[in-house]
Amino acid sequence: MNNYIIEFKDVWKTYNMGNTEINALAGLNLTLEKGSFTAVMGPSGSGKSTFLHVAGILDTPTKGFFRINGKQASKLSVKEQAKLRRNEIGFIFQRFNLMSQLTILENLTLPMINEDTQKAMNILDNMGLEGKYAKRPGQLSGGEQQRVAIARALINDPSIILADEPTGELDSKNANSIMQILHDLNRNKDVSIVIVTHNPEAAAFTDQILQMRDGNIV
Ligand SMILES: Nc1ncnc2c1ncn2[C@@H]1O[C@H](COP(=O)(O)OP(=O)(O)O)[C@@H](O)[C@H]1O
Ligand SMILES: [Mg+2]
Repeated sequence: MNNYIIEFKDVWKTYNMGNTEINALAGLNLTLEKGSFTAVMGPSGSGKSTFLHVAGILDTPTKGFFRINGKQASKLSVKEQAKLRRNEIGFIFQRFNLMSQLTILENLTLPMINEDTQKAMNILDNMGLEGKYAKRPGQLSGGEQQRVAIARALINDPSIILADEPTGELDSKNANSIMQILHDLNRNKDVSIVIVTHNPEAAAFTDQILQMRDGNIV
């Protein structure tokens, strides 16, 4: 046993594009401690989203070793991988990715392992979204929608939150409030968090900043 929430050893993700190969991840090595709060920065195309998708078991690497909270996803069945993803990981996207036809409350209860409306309402209240349960995403501001997305990411009590440019669509006031919420979750609920961001102000809320270039940490 060790104290890592994420471990990557020599992880590659290669795309074949006609005659050329693109290494989105090029032998990535990385260890993140449980309880850490990390920003990943770096130029467009450097592999940040690919890293998050592999860590979130939304994508599989071409080769290499990785573990999420001590578990080796590549050794699990598809069903067990889905369980690991639902139990351990909360994902937050730049464009919120809420279900536009569903209410705010339904967006939360949909991915719940054990549907618990009271719990969903409590999490929404903690995000300052009381009174918005019956609204649809399109009726909320961008900042509110991202708070719904954070609430949804928390619904199954994940040990890790992975956020891909979570403040990319927000003005600086809403961006800071999202980062403050993530900071408090890390401090008070001991959730490990990795965010990808271009924004130095957002990165300043975290405890460590990693720079990616060409599919690796520099
Ligand atoms: N599905 C895909 N097919 C082909 N190339 C891809 C695919 N996804 C990502 N890439 C390429 O992999 C590299 C890393 O992409 P990405 O992880 O999205 O970088 P970032 O998030 O840092 O902008 C880029 O060169 C990108 O064009
Ligand atoms: Mg990206």
